[in-house]
Amino acid sequence: MNFWKDLKKPFTVLAPMEDVTDVVFRSIVADCGRPDVFFTEFTSADGLNSPGREKVAKRLVKRNVESPIVAQIWGKKPENYFKAAQDIVEMGFDGIDINMGCPVRKIVKQGVCSALIDNEPLAHEVIQATIEGTAGKIPVSVKTRLGFKVKRTEEWAAFLLNHDIQALTIHGRISKEMSKFPCDWDEIKKVVDLKNKLGKDIVIIGNGDVNSLDEVDQRVRETGVDGVMIGRGVFKDPFVFNPNKSIRDLNLNERLDLVETHVDRFAEQYGTKRNFEVLKRFFKIYVSDFDGANEIRQKFMEVKSFNEVKELIKSLRS
Ligand SMILES: Cc1cc2nc3c(=O)[nH]c(=O)nc-3n(C[C@H](O)[C@H](O)[C@H](O)COP(=O)(O)O)c2cc1C
Repeated sequence: MNFWKDLKKPFTVLAPMEDVTDVVFRSIVADCGRPDVFFTEFTSADGLNSPGREKVAKRLVKRNVESPIVAQIWGKKPENYFKAAQDIVEMGFDGIDINMGCPVRKIVKQGVCSALIDNEPLAHEVIQATIEGTAGKIPVSVKTRLGFKVKRTEEWAAFLLNHDIQALTIHGRISKEMSKFPCDWDEIKKVVDLKNKLGKDIVIIGNGDVNSLDEVDQRVRETGVDGVMIGRGVFKDPFVFNPNKSIRDLNLNERLDLVETHVDRFAEQYGTKRNFEVLKRFFKIYVSDFDGANEIRQKFMEVKSFNEVKELIKSLRS
């Protein structure tokens, strides 16, 4: 049961992005031009095993249009990874990914996510517990960086590649760099070379600063990665995975269709339970980079309810 093996190479992956790649935006990206693999936002394994479970589990809502889809988890306690993995199998996900890359200070202070790079004993326990929780029913993968405070790409990658994981995503920065410095694809190539040297049957996915399918091809040629993951590229163009279309091809009415579809699906999914302001990040994506965009976008920034946004869309349609 390893969907990674069945993918035609090179393949593309939509990156997990907290408060961005929820079920609603994933469905929009699927409409615009599907990646080969989707990831959920990161979800706390400890939270899933707490009284707050119901709220946390909302991150794991999925629709059939996003497939294959990998649930990403993070957390501290191996026993919670075990139980979360059991749940995720039960929920019908195609894979489970362990976050060992998030650099956010309040998170790494808890000794989790990218802090696991400097705590191999706990990283080992977490991977083993997750693998045991899946009982071999779905593949386990890890998404990580080149190091925590300093680059230690090969040593860290060798440690991970010696586990029974099926895929490894390398974001070409260390944790301390957050996303401020350019991604180092030469280091990502070192991971591919190491995997080949060790003779491991593990899929390597490169990630960082890729914004088009041409760049995907270039990175694959340069490094030999099996697939490329794109995150912020979807902010610039939600059609980034579509070889034949770009958001720049859309006229205003078509852009408004995207806004309206997003708002309708958001309302259907969350009603008024989720902060309406979250939508503004998406309005910026759909209403940018054309003559008169700034003025129209400003109007979207001022709306405060589903009704107001619907009225605005109506008034802008020609
Ligand atoms: C808003 C935002 C939220 C993110 N949330 C997650 C997350 O939940 N899990 C994760 O592994 N990485 C997360 N990341 C990191 C991305 O998955 C990706 O590794 C990073 O943005 C670099 O790729 P890019 O240059 O294609 O954006 C997030 C990034 C952004 C910008």
